[in-house]
Amino acid sequence: MGKDVIVACDFSSAEQTFAFLDKFTGKKPFVKIGMELFYAEGPSIVRELKARGHKIFLDLKLHDIPNTVKKSMSVLSRLDVDMTNLHAAGTVRMMQAAIEGLTRPDGTRPLLIAVTQLTSTDQESMENDLWIKEPIDKVVMHYAANAKVAGLDGVVCSPLEAGKVHDNCGKDFITVTPGVRFADGDIGDQKRVMTPAEAKKIGSDYIVVGRPITAAEDPIAAYERCVAEFVD
Ligand code: C5P
Repeated sequence: MGKDVIVACDFSSAEQTFAFLDKFTGKKPFVKIGMELFYAEGPSIVRELKARGHKIFLDLKLHDIPNTVKKSMSVLSRLDVDMTNLHAAGTVRMMQAAIEGLTRPDGTRPLLIAVTQLTSTDQESMENDLWIKEPIDKVVMHYAANAKVAGLDGVVCSPLEAGKVHDNCGKDFITVTPGVRFADGDIGDQKRVMTPAEAKKIGSDYIVVGRPITAAEDPIAAYERCVAEFVD
């Protein structure tokens, strides 16, 4: 499994994204493109970052009827991203359709990762709004198991859940974990955080890091610190 630091490029324009990434003169970081940037710039931002030599996690969290997800994944697979995702709440059948759509004629495909429960959803909102009455950690593990049954490669989860996901779904089932902060850093609006070193220790495969790098005075140094703590 390729342990790596994924930099969340949460910018609203290509201009801001390139201004940020132009600072990296050495290694090209693995980057995450989310809805904000993708909806602002469209597929061209993916092609441009790919042409610049970045690996890409396209974080669009698809959730629709199986046929629509299958066809959409088929379009995304042609963008040649390295990793993309969907909501496990779309059911096992939707996830299986996603894999079918994502698989290229030569049998290759980007990694496909499921969102279980968003970290913004808590027990109360899950019970009251979604009418799911089970404990949230049980729900997360059930959705992770569904993703595995459907043939997905892993899940996005809090670093605190990564160890348990590996215990339940196997060590090769990928955990992609946001909510990473330096021990001496500002935690901002994240609630349950871990340092890159702790995330490594508990077995996260990829950490997704946004503001600790993008808002740092020296983003390169912050990125290198993440790599040193998590990968090396
Ligand atoms: O700036 P920060 O490091 O908090 O950014 C974390 C990134 O990971 C953001 O792009 C955020 O949307 C994403 N993310 C998250 N929690 C999740 C899923 C995604 O923070 N459960």
